Amino acid sequence: MPDFSYDRLRRSPDVEAENLFAYDATDRMLVEHALASSELVGTEVAVIGDEYGAITLALTDAGLEGVRVHQDSATGRIALARNAESLGLAGFTSHELDRSLLEGARLVLLQLPKALSELEEIADAVARWAAPDVVLVAGGRVKHMTITQNEVLGRSFSEVQAQRAERKSRLIVASGVRPVPDEPPYPQRATHAEFALTLASHGGAFAASRIDIGTRVLLEVLADSVDADATQRVIDLGCGTGALAAFYALNHPDARITATDRSAAAVASARETMIANGVADRVTVTHDDAGADLPDASADLILLNPPFHLGASIHTRAATRLFEAAARLLRPGGELLTVYNSSLEYKAELSRLIGRTEQVRRTAKFTVTRSFKR
Ligand SMILES: C[S@@+](CC[C@H](N)C(=O)[O-])C[C@H]1O[C@@H](n2cnc3c(N)ncnc32)[C@H](O)[C@@H]1O
Repeated sequence: MPDFSYDRLRRSPDVEAENLFAYDATDRMLVEHALASSELVGTEVAVIGDEYGAITLALTDAGLEGVRVHQDSATGRIALARNAESLGLAGFTSHELDRSLLEGARLVLLQLPKALSELEEIADAVARWAAPDVVLVAGGRVKHMTITQNEVLGRSFSEVQAQRAERKSRLIVASGVRPVPDEPPYPQRATHAEFALTLASHGGAFAASRIDIGTRVLLEVLADSVDADATQRVIDLGCGTGALAAFYALNHPDARITATDRSAAAVASARETMIANGVADRVTVTHDDAGADLPDASADLILLNPPFHLGASIHTRAATRLFEAAARLLRPGGELLTVYNSSLEYKAELSRLIGRTEQVRRTAKFTVTRSFKR
């Protein structure tokens, strides 16, 4: 069997650069592990966390029909579709993290997620919905792996075996499903009395069902400025569990709100949050990269708490990407409310990309600004 041409895979529409790849050694090891079995049937294989589609496409290229795949990121889904088209590969199906992804699956290949809560939700889903003799093979870069991941897998599987590391990656093989609780562990819900707000979260959502400290500062600004505004078109850009959108909806019954996030776990969480707060009929939640499917100049107000990770330049770019999106989505004169870690000093960038920007609040850690679209 000729080797799959991993190098032809692209990350687009995600950032592309010479040192950024659309696959890694873990993808290859997961594929090699799967193809080593002569009894492999495509419809019995599910892939979870396949960032740009490398695993799904390599298996499909090897002749497996009907592989099922779940990807969290909206851009990863587009990349998989584009890669499949350019390689002329078809026959796999894409799913949310639900029963349709896993029913009857006997082999599940997983790129280990960052958050243990996400791993817990995935392990439960596999134990709950896949075939009773399912084997879950989870892989990651050794430097990102911890023994706690094995413990989390051990709650859903009786056998958890770490394999020898190769090419700086390692596979963990889990089998022997344990009985699952009646209800899945996610979404989890928490009520925050000070804002009269309930948050629901799936395992992969930012801040779980807590209110993040930056979000809290922005919520306080919103609470202080509640007035009888005219009907507004509002976007919660990068909505996470939907705290900002739900709070705005509760306090502005006439507003029309869209909450959008690139993460499927966030989108599923935000939908549950809207239901929990009784505002699901007034808040539309979409799975999208930086609101790409929303029309230009369609918002009077955008609420934004951009991703923040010190020290990784790619994440500063992630914030810039959302500022640029806000500039496109706001009508002239529309407003962007942004909260960010005060050390980041985004004010100059916001002024350049959006328009006049003023500081609304500053705490020891966080700054909230209001930018007016020129
Ligand atoms: C700091 S969290 C804020 C979540 C929520 N707004 C809050 O305040 O609790 C940032 C969110 O932005 C999302 N995000 C990052 N880049 C994005 C992009 N290009 N398009 C849409 N959402 C994005 C992340 O998935 C994450 O949920």
